[in-house]
Amino acid sequence: MGSATIRTAILPVAGLGTRLLPATKTVPKELLPVYDTPLLQFALQEAASIPGIERLVVVTHESKKALEQYFDHDPALLRKLRRQKKHALANCLQQTGAAEGVETRFAYQDEARGLGHAVLCAARDVAEGPVAVILPDDLVLPTSCMAEMAQAYDPDRAGMMVAAMKVAPAEIGKYGAFDVLAQDGAVLTARGIVEKPAAGTAPSLFAAVGRYILPPDIFDQLARTAPGHQGEIQLTDAISALVPAHGLEGLRFSGQRFDCGTHEGLLAAGLWRRDDLLLPAAIAAQ
Ligand code: G1P
Repeated sequence: MGSATIRTAILPVAGLGTRLLPATKTVPKELLPVYDTPLLQFALQEAASIPGIERLVVVTHESKKALEQYFDHDPALLRKLRRQKKHALANCLQQTGAAEGVETRFAYQDEARGLGHAVLCAARDVAEGPVAVILPDDLVLPTSCMAEMAQAYDPDRAGMMVAAMKVAPAEIGKYGAFDVLAQDGAVLTARGIVEKPAAGTAPSLFAAVGRYILPPDIFDQLARTAPGHQGEIQLTDAISALVPAHGLEGLRFSGQRFDCGTHEGLLAAGLWRRDDLLLPAAIAAQ
């Protein structure tokens, strides 16, 4: 098996975020803030925390121009903030976009054909070796889930790793569900992931969260993966097909995950960051 260095992080952000209309009529979902920080910025910070990361491939949609603009530098605003001695804000502005030394490429997904198809759209732009995939609307606080995964990842043991969390039986149908073979501390060994299982059929209550480390042949596998759940090309189907060749682990990460593609998730994440100030009782009860 090749090197474990993850050089590329893929950010699938082509979705139109219709669930969060009207906000998403003009503002891409990934630019919606948790308190004052866009979801995209959290994902960029997480990508930057992967040791050896060199490249970001942002799989977006032509209509989401503001998302691409977020990567532009604004030297005039930066100079103005420095002149006004607003150094904290200037530092904050300077840290937006891709981290230093990380190249950003944009790829385009024209049609909503599923997460697997979105990842496939990045194929031509990735660097050599395993890739990370980060779904920005799955926000994990306060630790970097991707850094935890990169540390736990050992391609000699399993070439694929997906973030895992335990959910209630009524919830598992909203996720990919791990088909678990064994559990050793935070690491699950799985024989596949079943995408959005029908009620009563989930192989476990361990749900896949939007953080993946995948081998380069995921792209060939995605190219031959037939449409699955809801007629879309599912990343989990391609992952399951590669288990005999690579092995699959789930990592029960230490942070808390918020589904920021929903109103409740976005709100809960915002309260979480200011939990000393806002609704401490509600937070404590979670
Ligand atoms: C996607 C994946 C699913 C995963 C989920 C996590 O589903 O297909 O396996 O559990 O993200 O958020 P989506 O939420 O895009 O329908």
